[in-house]
Amino acid sequence: MEKRSVDFDRINAHTFPPKFHLPKMLNGRSLLLRLLLLTSALSEMVFVACGDVGTASHYSPPYQPTECYSGDPSQFPSSNLFAAAGDGVWDNGAACGRQYLVRCISASRSGTCIPERTIQIKIVDYALSSSSAATVSKQSVTGATLVLSQTAFGAIANSSVASINIEFQQV
Ligand SMILES: *[C@@H]1O[C@H](CO)[C@@H](O)[C@H](O)[C@H]1NC(C)=O
Repeated sequence: MEKRSVDFDRINAHTFPPKFHLPKMLNGRSLLLRLLLLTSALSEMVFVACGDVGTASHYSPPYQPTECYSGDPSQFPSSNLFAAAGDGVWDNGAACGRQYLVRCISASRSGTCIPERTIQIKIVDYALSSSSAATVSKQSVTGATLVLSQTAFGAIANSSVASINIEFQQV
């Protein structure tokens, strides 16, 4: 038993670098960690920069019933950040429940976008539905890529405009 422990110590002494090299080793490790963090931050930036460009309008309450969830209010995010999907996003209903990062990039009137504000919205409805609360007549303009709730629209732009240009990316 004693002999074994002596052997183990000897192996350790040969395998690991002397004590005074230890700080260097830790530095190398934290550098690697920093590189990893930088890489993931960069890839995230590229990811956001590669988002799609489209338009957003807004619609008014009541927001139910929806094409996705009928009259189930539990499906609405408590943040009130949600949207009805236009044809480009709807995906034959598969868009229900998908989450998107959305930011305002421009509008016909300058100063409309709230700069550097990105929101995350959930798709709860279909903008071209004939039977849901997101019916065309309640939209500020028709044919938008995303029809945002009033809360969502107001979070990224001045709500007095009917439509904004957006960058959006599924998360
Ligand atoms: C939104 O736009 C309207 C019309 O131009 C303007 O009167 C109002 O002050 C703006 N609101 C904000 C918060 O900038």
